[in-house]
Amino acid sequence: MKELIKRILGSAYLKIKFPFSILKTKLLILKNQSIRDNKYKSFSDNGEYPELALKAALDPATFSIFRRHPSYTPVLEHVSRKQGEEYLKIIREKYNFKDDEIFQIIKPLMYIGNPRLLKINDLPYKISTTALRYLKIGLDIKELTGDNIGNVVEIGCGYGGQAIILDKLLEIKSYTFYDLWQVNLLIKRFIEDSNFSSKYTLSTLKEDSNNNMNSWDFCISNYAFSELPKALQEMYIKRVLNNTKRGYMLMNSGLSGDYGNIKNLSQKELLDKFSHASIHDEVPLTFSHNYLFTWGIKS
Ligand SMILES: C[S@@+](CC[C@H](N)C(=O)[O-])C[C@H]1O[C@@H](n2cnc3c(N)ncnc32)[C@H](O)[C@@H]1O
Repeated sequence: MKELIKRILGSAYLKIKFPFSILKTKLLILKNQSIRDNKYKSFSDNGEYPELALKAALDPATFSIFRRHPSYTPVLEHVSRKQGEEYLKIIREKYNFKDDEIFQIIKPLMYIGNPRLLKINDLPYKISTTALRYLKIGLDIKELTGDNIGNVVEIGCGYGGQAIILDKLLEIKSYTFYDLWQVNLLIKRFIEDSNFSSKYTLSTLKEDSNNNMNSWDFCISNYAFSELPKALQEMYIKRVLNNTKRGYMLMNSGLSGDYGNIKNLSQKELLDKFSHASIHDEVPLTFSHNYLFTWGIKS
């Protein structure tokens, strides 16, 4: 009898405790999410976007549509129709590219991940405006480096779209991608799915324990270094930028060094850190006070 009462009380206790355990677990998850050391977190390191990138890297169904997913498009794939038209004009008029050539080069970026395709100007087909941006930037970079760009390092690489276009336009000795670990897995999947022909390495800043051994010829970081908090920017300067002969970074943190709530290096602070750096206009200008920061490049 005593044993039976003990068992009934035990099972009643577990039944009462169960909902409280669930509640406690949920509270712990919420608490964990709010402990974010923003000193080392970029704007896009916000939980939702890296988790989506990870899911897309691992799940074929998510990968097939990730470029139009609402957790992805606030960070990437938001080049407007008007901006697309401006990029196309430069590609046609400054670089004399014919529409067939344009389509051939950006083809790998037209379908994988199902991007939004827009009808622009008099082009006979709909097109990815983000791919047009990558092509215009790729042509600008080719103008600076000539056909051989050497060992390239990119910080904040999206899904590798800029790298895929550069690989089509230039001779690349090696390509090093630095991004969040979840995003690196997505880059790997995207790169392996396209005809990327260069030798490549993926890294996070922490993973890169061998930093003193690394050196590159050209560094790229478009709308990415400028979204990092100052502490992370300084780490990237020490480990990557200072070990690269020349660099090209499109900056969207204005003159004072602010991206949303993120405080980072001002234009002046950045210039002071390099002996051969210069500031250029972003062409076309996609947001007020955006600028192009380069080093090691004669203007
Ligand atoms: C606005 S996207 C720009 C992507 C690409 N450069 C482009 O032009 O489309 C910002 C990129 O920075 C990456 N990022 C965020 N935090 C980072 C970090 N701590 N280190 C390196 N990359 C980071 C994001 O994952 C994303 O790929």
